[in-house]
Amino acid sequence: MSKTVALCVSGSIAAYKAVEVARLLGKAGVRVLPVFTESAAKFVGPVTFSGITGEPVRTSMWDASFPGEMHVKLAQDADVVAMVPATADLLARLAQGRADDLVTALALSARGPVLVAPSMHPRMWAHPSTTRNAATLRADGVRFVGPVDGPVASGETGMGRMSEPADIVSAILLAAEPGDLAGLSLLVTAGPTYEDIDPVRFLGNRSSGKMGFALAARAAARGAQVKLVAGPVAEATPPGVQRVDVRSAEEMRAAVMDARARVDVVIMSAAVADFRPEAVSASKLKKSDGAPALRLTQNPDILAELGQGRTGTAPFLVGFALETGADADVIAYAREKLVRKRVDLVVANHAAESLGKDENRIHLVDASGVETHGPVPKGALADVILTRVRGALRGAAPAPPAPSS
Ligand code: C5P
Repeated sequence: MSKTVALCVSGSIAAYKAVEVARLLGKAGVRVLPVFTESAAKFVGPVTFSGITGEPVRTSMWDASFPGEMHVKLAQDADVVAMVPATADLLARLAQGRADDLVTALALSARGPVLVAPSMHPRMWAHPSTTRNAATLRADGVRFVGPVDGPVASGETGMGRMSEPADIVSAILLAAEPGDLAGLSLLVTAGPTYEDIDPVRFLGNRSSGKMGFALAARAAARGAQVKLVAGPVAEATPPGVQRVDVRSAEEMRAAVMDARARVDVVIMSAAVADFRPEAVSASKLKKSDGAPALRLTQNPDILAELGQGRTGTAPFLVGFALETGADADVIAYAREKLVRKRVDLVVANHAAESLGKDENRIHLVDASGVETHGPVPKGALADVILTRVRGALRGAAPAPPAPSS
C-alpha cells in the first residue's frame, strides 16, 4: 500500500535539501504533503515544493477555504510526520508540546511516527537546552535522524549538520513500514573498548564493531527502538539508531546500566576488554625511563552483572563468545558462559572467521541446544539472531504487533 508523509520544513539553511528529500520520497512512490513553518519560506520557495509533490504547501491553520481542521486532517492522512530540517526552535516547541502553528499542531495530532532531522549551528545543538529538548522528544518516542558531524552553513565544522537526504529518506521509509520488531526496545553494544595506559597509549583489541552495527541497523530497519553503545570504531551510525560513544569498559558499563531498565533486550556484542591498567599515568610514560611493568586489574563483566543481577526474565540477554579453537571447544565455552553469566542466548564465533570480516559463521547456543549459521554476511546473521530473539520473546510475552504490509 502506498504511504503518505507530511514533510514539515522549518527555517534553516538546510531547507533546500528538503527539496531533494521530497523528490526522493516521490520517486519511492510516497505521497508527500508539504507543510511549512512561517520562516521556512524565507529559505525555500513553496512553488518548488508544490511543483515536486503535486500538493499545495500548507503553512497556516487559518485557511478558511479548507474544510475542517487542517492539522487533524493532515495527521489523519500521514503515515509519518517528518520535520526536515528541524531547527533548534522547532525542537524546543515540539518538546513543550506547543500547538501554535500548523507544524506543531500536526505533530501533536500525528497518529504514526514523528521523525526529526535536526539542523543547526553546532553550538546551538550542544546547548544544554537543546540537549534537554532532544532528550524529552526521544523519551516521547520521536525518532531522530542526525544531526551529523560536518561542515555547517557558517563555514565551521561540527555536530549539527543535517543528515544527507538519502539517509533521511531511508529513515522516513523505515518509519512508514512498521516491521516485525515494532514495539521492542533494544540496547546493542559494539566494538572494542580502549583502556588507557597514559594520555597517548591504550590497550585495545581488534573488534571492528561490524556485527554490532549490523545488529543495530537490522533491528532499527525491522522497527525496533535501538540504542547503540559503541566503543571506538569507524562505522557510520545506522539510520534511526540512537548512538552513544564510549571508550573504556567502565564507560560502557555506565551507559549500559543507565539504559537497562528501559529496554526489552540487551545484546552485548562488544569485545569488552577484560583488563585495564591499574593506574593511568597522567603524563606520557618516557621511553628513557625503560619498559614499564604494567599492572593490570580486572574490568567489570557487564553481561554477567546484568545476568546475575536480573530478578525476572527481563531484559532478554544475548552475549557473544569470541574464541579460538575447534567448534566443539567454542560451543563448550559458550555453554559455560550461558550458565555462568545467566544469559538467554550466546552467539559463539571464531576469532579467525570474525574479526574485521564482513562475513562470519556463528553458533547460537541456548538452553535448548546449538544451531550453526554461515558463513554469510553479518547483516544476514543479524537477522538470524534478531529472529531468534523475537521468537523467544513471543514465547515468553505478548507478541509485538505484526507488520502492517
Ligand atoms: O567472558 P567473555 O569475555 O568471553 O564473554 C563475552 C561476552 O561477555 C560478550 O557478550 C561481551 O560483550 C561480554 N563482556 C562483558 N564485560 C566484560 C567482558 C565481556 O559484558 N568485561
